[in-house]
Amino acid sequence: MIGEKVIWVATLPSTNDFLKENWQRLTHGTVVIAEQQTSGRGRYNRYWHSPEGGLWFSILFKPRKQTKPTFFTKLCSVAIVRTLSFLKIDTQIKWPNDIYHQQKKLAGILSESVFEENTLKAVIVGIGMNVNNDIPQEIKDKAISLREISGKNYDLKTILKIFLKHVNQLLKRYSNKPEALTRIWKGLLIQKEGEQVSFKSNDSVRSGKILKIQDDHMILSVDGEQIQVSSLEILEP
Ligand code: BTN
Repeated sequence: MIGEKVIWVATLPSTNDFLKENWQRLTHGTVVIAEQQTSGRGRYNRYWHSPEGGLWFSILFKPRKQTKPTFFTKLCSVAIVRTLSFLKIDTQIKWPNDIYHQQKKLAGILSESVFEENTLKAVIVGIGMNVNNDIPQEIKDKAISLREISGKNYDLKTILKIFLKHVNQLLKRYSNKPEALTRIWKGLLIQKEGEQVSFKSNDSVRSGKILKIQDDHMILSVDGEQIQVSSLEILEP
């Protein structure tokens, strides 16, 4: 079961780094949570603000059968949306796995995989959710916390518990039906097939039309050419 073992720590540099260093001795489903991180990391090697009050944690998945790492990332993004919906907070997923509430980012996921001789040994899914923490002034136009949305403070343990219940439920239902999970995840995406999107490419801004969203990549039409991308920063949510 995911979350059967939870390691709760006051401070860590990064919960993802902790699992990357210790995955071999820890069991499948271990969760490590830090009240604050001193070197929290986001995607594209960005710094992730992780002061006290937010939910900063990582999950260790050790797949027994060959599974695409993106299966676990999608599973967690859907579980976050369901957890927040239970808390009466409406969210959507910005492709591929950012959680947004009305054009502002509420949570992000950093997924990292460990391969040995081409075999997937572990997937570490790190989740950062702005809950009761303050948002730094310089990103206030782009990010939001649960407290800012509802005016309430939340119990982090309760949110984690609800989230883990959803993760386990989804794992049970979709481990053998990854394409069904992809359909659910696609339904929660802000971006839809046929829509035009702007994105960053080598420090310039380009735009293209989404032709197809697949489980771990999407196909875009850019300047009359079809391109396949598995990681790309879409500019507007
Ligand atoms: C992103 O949107 O860029 C991903 C942010 C992921 C942040 C979380 S917080 C817990 C875990 N530990 C880290 O260092 N990063 C992830």
